[in-house]
This record gives sequence, structure tokens and C-alpha cells, in this order.
Amino acid sequence: MTVAVLREDSVAAAASVDQQRLWDRLAAMAKIGAIPGQGVNRPALSPEDIESRALLLSWARTLGLAVSVDAIGNLFLRRAGLDPSAPPVMTGSHMDTQPKGGRFDGIYGVLAGLEALEAMDAAGVRTRAPIEVVAWTNEEGGRFPPCTMGSMVFAGARTVEDFAEVHDNAGIRLADALAQTLAATPDAARRPVAGPVAAYVEAHIEQGPLLESAALQVGAVTGIQGMRWFNVEVSGESAHAGTAPVSLRRDALREAVAMIAALRELTADPSDVTRFTVGRMLVTPNSPNSVPSHVLFSVDIRHPDRATIARLGEAVEPTCRAHARACTVTVTPTLHDDPTDFDPAIVGLVEAASGALGLPSMRLPSGASHDAMYLSRLCPTGMIFVPCERGVSHNEAENALPSDLAAGARVLAATLAELANR
Ligand code: GLV
Ligand code: MN
Ligand code: MN
Repeated sequence: MTVAVLREDSVAAAASVDQQRLWDRLAAMAKIGAIPGQGVNRPALSPEDIESRALLLSWARTLGLAVSVDAIGNLFLRRAGLDPSAPPVMTGSHMDTQPKGGRFDGIYGVLAGLEALEAMDAAGVRTRAPIEVVAWTNEEGGRFPPCTMGSMVFAGARTVEDFAEVHDNAGIRLADALAQTLAATPDAARRPVAGPVAAYVEAHIEQGPLLESAALQVGAVTGIQGMRWFNVEVSGESAHAGTAPVSLRRDALREAVAMIAALRELTADPSDVTRFTVGRMLVTPNSPNSVPSHVLFSVDIRHPDRATIARLGEAVEPTCRAHARACTVTVTPTLHDDPTDFDPAIVGLVEAASGALGLPSMRLPSGASHDAMYLSRLCPTGMIFVPCERGVSHNEAENALPSDLAAGARVLAATLAELANR
């Protein structure tokens, strides 16, 4: 029994979502970059990323979707609409993972989008506007910081050139890895970065515990908290660990540790809303018996309140400087995302579609960042969350139920069909 808030063909599209097909595709993708413990390591612009792109394109071709790629490597799979001049409705997410990532973060949104299109085919649903499934490049930023790079470039917030010289931990330039990735899909038509978008809806696992605790299969996401990223580079001087008097050392790691302790104090929050993470540290020369001459560490701070994230972000550089004694320090901001509110009309549509399909939902904000954040600068945007086990993510053990993943894909199919028939 469905409520009459949806068009009949939107309901038909949702009903044609095939849980097993979606699950099988997720399993096939999980083999690319598989690591022990059911995890996946598929860094952006790596050979594994290239392999996952090839697999996605093989499915897209079977479905007769038109394939194109832009200069940052965002991949677009287009299902034609009845009005070819109408701006597309977009959906998607990312195929790259964290180094110790799981089988669902990102790839679920891409494959749920593909499933929605295949379900429309199966149900004979035509839409006025075209629908495009997008695999955004380098959402994770684990190999080439910062995160959400592909959608950021698409939204015009930065350019490809801005990121050309970003290096991974092995010293490989982003520009070189990107050129290799683009060369691997020679038959994808090149398209300009950007272009009009009618609306964007992204499906994702929640990566938190709220839906599971509430025993709900669907979350209508209201927005994304603000985030600031920095690279902090501390420079001192290498010396012999046995001979150099401690009082005379310019130990970059010792000072980096003091800076991190001070940043922890800065971000201490009894209400446990502020998120502060140092997740990456490169120590040079990284030898037990040499005093470290150089340390690079990352800072990731998040908060839902605009003024708070602004205040904390502004305090990072002075806090680090205050703890640079014998060493010098350089603080480089690498990401500045203000909190994002999604379009109330899209949040409402996700909620209504979910209810109409007999899937009770809740509204919830996103603690994690997503490509939807940058798309929201271009068009009405929203997200659909599904539960994941114990909220665990950025972890090999990340897990989700086939039935929950299919429920999210059903809501996505109906929402896309509605939006593309406006
Ligand atoms: C994306 O994975 C994030 O860091 O929120
Ligand atoms: Mn993700
Ligand atoms: Mn992630």
C-alpha cells in the first residue's frame, strides 16, 4: 500500500530495485583492492581505482548509458531523458576508499544510482530530464588530500591545476596519477568541468549509529557539519640520538607533539560535539636513532556550528606557533567547508518518498563529509542514509544489510524519478 504522494511510475521504479543485483555488484567491487578483514583499500587514481572504473563502465555500457569524464576524472553515466535539453538530475558518490576502508563507504551511492537506473528500465519508466550517475574523483582524500576533490572542482570552488602538485606518501604527483587514470578510459567522452544540474541526491551508509539504534532503514539527511583541514609542517635539524644534548636539539617531533597536545586542549569539548583528529604524520628521517628534522601532520576539525568552527579554525595557526620553540612551523589550510544545510524541499521529498514506500525514516545530520556538500552550491541537494552495523566506518569491518541497502536504493529510485519528471 503506497501513499499517493508519488507518481505511479516513481513507485514502479522503486519496486523494480533488485536487492540481489545491487548486493552482487557491491561484492564484485569489494574484490578490487580487497584487504584482510573484508576491507577495501582502493586509493583515488590508483590501479585499483582504474579497475573499478572499468567495471562500472562495463555495467554502464550493458545498460546503454552514455559515458563521459571531466578533467578531474569525475565519471558520468547518463540515462537519456525525453527532453534532451533539460539539465540532468544527478546522483552518485565515490569509488575510492580509505587505506583501511570498507565495502560500502562511497561505492554504495554509485551502485545504488546505477540500480535506480536499471530499475527504471525494468519498470519501463521514462523521465523528462536525463539522470546521471556520477562517480566523483577522490572523495576520501586519503592518498591526495584534501577530500571531496572531484565535486569541489565540479562546483567551481577550486581548479584541477590547484591540485596538480599534491603528492602522495610515495611522492607521486596527483597530475601524473590523474593523467594515467584518464588515459585508461579513452572511449569516455570528455566533457567540460561543471554544467547545469537540476538536483542532486546521494545515497550513503550513515557511518554513525543513529538509524540502527532507531531500527529505521532510511535517513533523510538535513545537512553536513563544518570542517577545517590543515597541514602543519615542523622543521628542525637531524642529529645523533646518542650524542646530541637534548637541550641543544631542534627536534621536530617533540615540538609537533606539544602542538598536538595544545590543539587537543583548544578543541576539548565536554559536550563531545567537536571532532578533532590528527590522522596523518610523516616523520623525517624516521629512524630510531636520528633526531627528527621534519614532521608533517594533518589536522581535521569539525563542528556543526558556523561560528564555532570558524573560531577553532582561526586558532590553529597561533596555537601551533606558540609551541614552536627551536623549530619553525608552517601551517597550511587545505580545506575550509562551512556547515551545509540541504534544501528543505529535497529533505522533504526523501522523507515523503520513504513514507510512501512504507519505509519509516528519520531526519538526521551528517557528521561525515560528502560530495553532496559541494553539489549543494549548484542545485537543490539532499542525501539518503541507510544504517551500517554499529555505525562503524573508515574501518575494514564496515558492514550493512542487503535489505537496508536495497531500501535506500528504492527511496533513491523514487526520488530521482520524481525530480526528473518535474
Ligand atoms: C569523508 O570520508 C570524511 O572524511 O568525512
Ligand atoms: Mn563516503
Ligand atoms: Mn569516507
